[in-house]
Amino acid sequence: MKQSQRVTLGGKLSAVLVAAGSSVGLGNIWRFPYVAGDNGGGAFLAIYMLCVLILGLPLMIAEFSVGRATHRNAVGAYRTLDRKWSFLGYNGVLAAFLILGFYFVVSGWTAEYMVHSVTGELTRYTTAVEYTAMFDRFIRNPWRPILYTSLFIAATHFVIAMGVQKGIERSAKVLMPMLFIILIALAIHSLLMPGGTEGLKFFLQPDFSKVTAATVLTALGQAFFSLSLGIGTMVTYASYFKAETDLRHTAFHVTILDTTVAVLAGIVIFPAVFSVGIEPSSGPSLVFITLPGIFNSMPLSMVWSSIFFLLLVVAALTSTISLHEVITVYLHEEWHMSRRGAAWTTTGGTMALAALASLSLGLFDSWRICGLNLFDSLDYLTANILLPAGGFFTSIFVGWRMERKALQAQITNDGKLPFRIERLFRFLLRYVCPAILLLVFLDNMGIF
Ligand code: PFF
Repeated sequence: MKQSQRVTLGGKLSAVLVAAGSSVGLGNIWRFPYVAGDNGGGAFLAIYMLCVLILGLPLMIAEFSVGRATHRNAVGAYRTLDRKWSFLGYNGVLAAFLILGFYFVVSGWTAEYMVHSVTGELTRYTTAVEYTAMFDRFIRNPWRPILYTSLFIAATHFVIAMGVQKGIERSAKVLMPMLFIILIALAIHSLLMPGGTEGLKFFLQPDFSKVTAATVLTALGQAFFSLSLGIGTMVTYASYFKAETDLRHTAFHVTILDTTVAVLAGIVIFPAVFSVGIEPSSGPSLVFITLPGIFNSMPLSMVWSSIFFLLLVVAALTSTISLHEVITVYLHEEWHMSRRGAAWTTTGGTMALAALASLSLGLFDSWRICGLNLFDSLDYLTANILLPAGGFFTSIFVGWRMERKALQAQITNDGKLPFRIERLFRFLLRYVCPAILLLVFLDNMGIF
């Protein structure tokens, strides 16, 4: 497809909102608080921010450059620059498909919890045991999670079917500001809770005595997933950027927004957790088991929990849209399907995988892949293998293989913008990113 035939996003703000829509997701609001809680709170936050700055920012600029230099889907983009590197694009399309397999399921849970908050069902229970039982019953049910997951997939499909400008861009412009308003309202509410300052101290006062090598590696993995790096999402989105879009500024704003949302999510959750005296390290169930119990002890509990789960739904939706688009535009451009047909094929394929992943938590629990059920295998395979591998090879490709002039042209908009930190940027991409990512990868493989 020629460059001129391709749609582009509107203004500067659109590029930031669309890319931030992908980055800000369940990774920030569901995953970040419990991972930070498990890893010492404030100290984890400090290390996480360093990872975002040293590794996340250069890699995002690198992915943006690949996308805008070629105006192609992830596979086409790498192939255009160097045939031998198209495997990086395939790695991305595969990772997007597999992530959607479990991400859609968790998104479905958030939708169900939102509905239960609105109907008052969530306020019927009181003890943690009851909330745990409710959550277990729900995720093991063969039909209900699949029903909500299907609704979520339908919403994602609807946006994708509307196209890049009317669907993706327009939805990001509405949903992202909405997400920020909700998050700020919840953060203020949380800070005003009695006993909330304890939680804030835990989250913002670093205690480095708890930091181990594993903490650093966990922070890296989290930064990577949270910024949507290593799988071609940013390559795909940047392929719609305008020639005037400043890639560095866009990447800078996206990383700031993403980190701000993670910090605000911590500010919402930790004071609430401490105000009722619960351990902050209660794992993935923090949002689905601990929080509903906390909301229940507050006045106007139905309102706050409905708003909170609406926030999760919105955050998840802008991320699933970006993952869906990676596959849809790949099928559209590489397999010459119509955009409609490509969107339906992606929806059908991910629906089947998500249904199996959901069933693997209950009915098909006995089906194991290397000891893990399908849901956990998808999470493990993507977060621990495909994403770090994608990031590693992206930094090698852009640092060593991509033509220096082509990269400069992208970053400076053909010489119109200064590029004072080029040496630092290249150094980070050539040496620091690959070395750190290799370490994470080897650690995840259990080599250390
Ligand atoms: N960044 C998203 C989150 O934090 O929830 C998840 C995600 C979206 C990962 C898109 C990767 C991706 F390509």
